Amino acid sequence: MSQSTEPSPQAPRSMGTDVDRRDAALKVRGRATYAFEQVVEGALYGHLVTASVPRGTITAIDTTDALAAPGVHSVVHHENAPRLADREDREFDVLQDDVVDFHGQIVGVVLADSPEAARHGASLVQVSYTETEFVAQMRDDSPVTAPDEVMPGTPTDTAEGDLDAAMASAAIRVEETYRTPHEHNNAMEPHAYVVTWHDDDAVTVHTSTQHPHGAAEQYATSFGLEPGAVRVVSPHVGGGFGSKGLPHAPDIAAVLAARTIPGRTLKLAVTRQQMFSLCGYRVPTVSHMRLGADADGVLVAFEHAVHQSSSRIKEFVEQTGLPARSLYASATRRTSHRLTELDVGVPSWMRAPGMFPGVAACEMAMDELAVAAGLDPIELRRRNEPEIDPETGLPFSDRRLIECLEFGAERFGWSERAGTPGSRLEGDWRIGMGVATATYPAHSSPGNVARIGFDDGRYTVAIAAADLGTGARTTIGLIAADALGVSPEEVEVQVGDSALPKATVAGGSTGTSSWGSAVVVAARAFRDQHGTDPAPGATTTGAETKAEEPEYATHSYGAQFAEVAVNRWTGEIRARRLLGVFSAGRILNPRGARSQFIGGMIMALGAALHEQGVRDPRFGHVVTQDLATYHVPTHADVLDIDALWLPGADDSLNPMGARGIGEIGITGVVPAVANAVFDATGVRVRSLPISPGDLL
Ligand code: MOS
Repeated sequence: MSQSTEPSPQAPRSMGTDVDRRDAALKVRGRATYAFEQVVEGALYGHLVTASVPRGTITAIDTTDALAAPGVHSVVHHENAPRLADREDREFDVLQDDVVDFHGQIVGVVLADSPEAARHGASLVQVSYTETEFVAQMRDDSPVTAPDEVMPGTPTDTAEGDLDAAMASAAIRVEETYRTPHEHNNAMEPHAYVVTWHDDDAVTVHTSTQHPHGAAEQYATSFGLEPGAVRVVSPHVGGGFGSKGLPHAPDIAAVLAARTIPGRTLKLAVTRQQMFSLCGYRVPTVSHMRLGADADGVLVAFEHAVHQSSSRIKEFVEQTGLPARSLYASATRRTSHRLTELDVGVPSWMRAPGMFPGVAACEMAMDELAVAAGLDPIELRRRNEPEIDPETGLPFSDRRLIECLEFGAERFGWSERAGTPGSRLEGDWRIGMGVATATYPAHSSPGNVARIGFDDGRYTVAIAAADLGTGARTTIGLIAADALGVSPEEVEVQVGDSALPKATVAGGSTGTSSWGSAVVVAARAFRDQHGTDPAPGATTTGAETKAEEPEYATHSYGAQFAEVAVNRWTGEIRARRLLGVFSAGRILNPRGARSQFIGGMIMALGAALHEQGVRDPRFGHVVTQDLATYHVPTHADVLDIDALWLPGADDSLNPMGARGIGEIGITGVVPAVANAVFDATGVRVRSLPISPGDLL
């Protein structure tokens, strides 16, 4: 299926086999040491003090009561904190002045003998403010700005052809607006830091991160250190979903506060509540979709105009318009992104940034188009399948969307769909089925380095990758084993430490592709240098640095199917069955992959039916800042979910033939569920999450 002519280096023996997760035993026995669990003698504990006003100036900080409380050691705040070497990025400009930019911003750190004493001390710090005007809520008529780009090298707006004219003459039109709310990353392990300064020019930080080198580089910048003077250790990460892909303000606060106690260690954990303001979140999005088609359902116009929020102190652009650029053939296309800057915490990556709300909007609109055209939604997609990538003009490396849809339709029993909304009733429940496309771009990041060593009859592969529960360790072991031509049991894997060879972020579904490419280079170099019978102590480092002009448009695809039951009296919605069928090149680690796909689908089920962050526009704070009020799916919500994939390999991106799979699972589920709810009830809900109230 891949159009690349270069064969894989050798037929894989370990990649694609079902193996146990390398850290499984450690984890189930509770012996995998997470950041805060690092045992340190004589540590002090930190607790963040956060702003209780949305915008203003600190006029006074009274620490008398806090310092008098048992166990409290000190309070670090803007008047006594060490100075940062770099203040350019205002998200990281922590405790440097009296300015408050958003509710929940860090205004102090209490250091104490125990976590409890620190937390109590923090409650006793009295901060006085003068408040200034603020805006914490985006409205449809809010002023907007156009960002310079939506992600590095990706334009804010795109246009092809005369879309307005095509719309005017289209036989069928869909013009609707779709909305997603604030969504908050909630990894099981909150962000935590164990920081030790050595003298004043080197620091070690145990933290939970998706990118040890990225964190180390930010610490070096913020504190004016040599890059080699910072070590970030992160062997086990309890999830991240993007929130640990980039450093956030608590990173800087912890390292800054620890600088006041040189030689001693500071342990600081961000609370669940604080995460909602300080560790990134997905902004609310508004998608204005305009689809035009001829009488046969062939698209002549496809427009996605995005309005979403960002923070005033740091721009973050969710790339919501991206999927519309490559999903379907249409003679005219247009996308745009507009931002409303608010006085709120800084938004950031959350699993499938932009792609998640963007695909949701595209695929809900496509379902409406199918209804308007009187076509089965799978047939509609068949009629709009592009020959080449409409965005870049490049051939697709491996586009098997229709195959995913057709295979899934058969497995799911799509032909049993009634097709007449509201017509299928089982007792008190209305039953409906929906389908939608899943997609995510596949990239490989240059700049990765891996080291292969041999000793005591075993190989070691070392790279500062991050395993945030994804099974990266296990997958890297499979890649290294095949590249060396040995079994995975003969290979040790070392990851999660910036002292190891440099690695790019576990983000954007690029980790396995990027790290794996370097591992293969290093393994081949090792064999070239040391042969198949290496001497003990043999070691070779290899780098994958090339960033070639792409010859292909590399995207992964999938088909998401949903069957829902909606209670006709209460509006309760049950997702009875979800099936995802994916095409992502070679699947390297089937057990881990299935878990990634299903995990993404469950996360998306949450977005479809449960998740809704609420910010109070009167005070600027996040109201739903715990898991009692911010709802995520529980076991009782997750019924029959399965993930399957098409066999094959895509050799255009990396020597493993694999594309990333971390994020595609979250795309496509929301529209599949929404379209199923429409099929069940005849009610179109265009604003997430879909709740019983929408259906009564
Ligand atoms: Mo993920 S949101 O690309 O870290």
